[in-house]
Amino acid sequence: MIECRVCAGSLSEFIDFGRQPLSDAFRKPDDSTPEFFFRLAVGICESCTMVQLVEEVPRDRMFHQEYPYHSSGSAVMSKHFAKTAHYFLETELTGADPFIVEIGCNDGIMLKTIREAGVRHLGVEPSGGVAELARSEGVRVRTDFFEESSASKIRAAEGPADVIYAANTICHIPYIESIFRGVDALLSAAGVFVFEDPYLGDIVERTAFDQIYDEHFFFFTVRSVGAMAQRFGFELVDVERLAVHGGEVRYTIARAGSRTPSAATAELLAEEQARGLAERTTFDHFADAVGQVRDDLIALLRRLRDEGSRVVAYGATAKSATVANYCGIGPDLVPFVCDTTLVKQGRLTPGSHLPVRPVTAFADPYPDYALLFAWNHAEEIMAKEQQFRDAGGRWILYVPEVKII
Ligand code: SAH
Ligand code: TYD
Ligand code: ZN
Repeated sequence: MIECRVCAGSLSEFIDFGRQPLSDAFRKPDDSTPEFFFRLAVGICESCTMVQLVEEVPRDRMFHQEYPYHSSGSAVMSKHFAKTAHYFLETELTGADPFIVEIGCNDGIMLKTIREAGVRHLGVEPSGGVAELARSEGVRVRTDFFEESSASKIRAAEGPADVIYAANTICHIPYIESIFRGVDALLSAAGVFVFEDPYLGDIVERTAFDQIYDEHFFFFTVRSVGAMAQRFGFELVDVERLAVHGGEVRYTIARAGSRTPSAATAELLAEEQARGLAERTTFDHFADAVGQVRDDLIALLRRLRDEGSRVVAYGATAKSATVANYCGIGPDLVPFVCDTTLVKQGRLTPGSHLPVRPVTAFADPYPDYALLFAWNHAEEIMAKEQQFRDAGGRWILYVPEVKII
């Protein structure tokens, strides 16, 4: 039996992608050491309904000095996090000498606005390379994993935090009890723990199976997060749906009894109930839909290749590791993927070994089709690549279904 990481209940597995590589382990072309693989499969807890991976990858293999994901690569995300910072500055951080801690601050995309406002802050970020980028923006960073021990040290040195915030990070952390113990140690009596992550409701609705990879351990719903908060002595008091990254929810958690839960929380919970978002049959349908997308995508790419069309991929996302490896998309179908991230360029994508090239390669010359791996940034990327469309190029999308636009 595989145990739930929240409540130790038993997991019911509903999808298995087989052996998959680490999604952000971009390889040097001359690297001949064996790649690390693990079994990527997902189950739902029969007790608390938390959806989660069945196998955990050791955290130091994923988050280290060379971690290549740079949050500031998207202008839309930069705007989103500047707005988030202003929201905290205007609501929770208005008292005397307020203090905010961000778990997984990456390159400082959110905290730099807090720093500009002169508000006391600390980022906790284990990946040394991106932590250094945040420091170069004037952001204070502790290069460390947030967990009970580090949180207690921060509390002792700096006092209680009014806000503990995390974006696209809490879902990365299987040792969740230690996170809540850390929040308990560090959060002020009236403070809030706010985190936002991909929403299981959107993943299921859009068949966005590429949200499933090593780093995304948990797939949250209002119901599962509410139960988790309660288990650890907290309460879910607000939720907000966000359009970023293909659909997320921002959860606000407070010490039990300290705030009145919002109407939005009860509404989204009821919506989940009506949709059967904790029911096994929903996930069986999801698994069937995923298989269909794979069949359609691979058939399309093979047909285009056989017709002599040139297809390149756009955005060497972590998400695309699951798509490329599960669908079997190698350099025979897609000769390269372009990406703006310097540290990914010149490397090969994990498992599938597509060469990563700078975005200048995209226009040199434009391909017939571009497979949009970074579909969550579709608006931003399509706007800046309007010339590709004007030149007759077409985009291939596979979320929510395979289509050419
Ligand atoms: N908040 C950013 C970065 C998300 S990527 C954004 O939304 O764009 C996830 C980040 O969490 C990585 O930078 C990773 O190094 C960091 N991380 C992973 N485990 C962590 C932990 N236990 N404590 C703090 N940060 C962690
Ligand atoms: P993203 O979808 O944000 O995350 P993940 O890696 O977790 O799946 O990754 C976006 C990738 O796409 C990132 O490597 C940067 C790249 N990118 C571009 O090349 N051009 C762009 O305009 C944008 C927005 C992103
Ligand atoms: Zn559970």
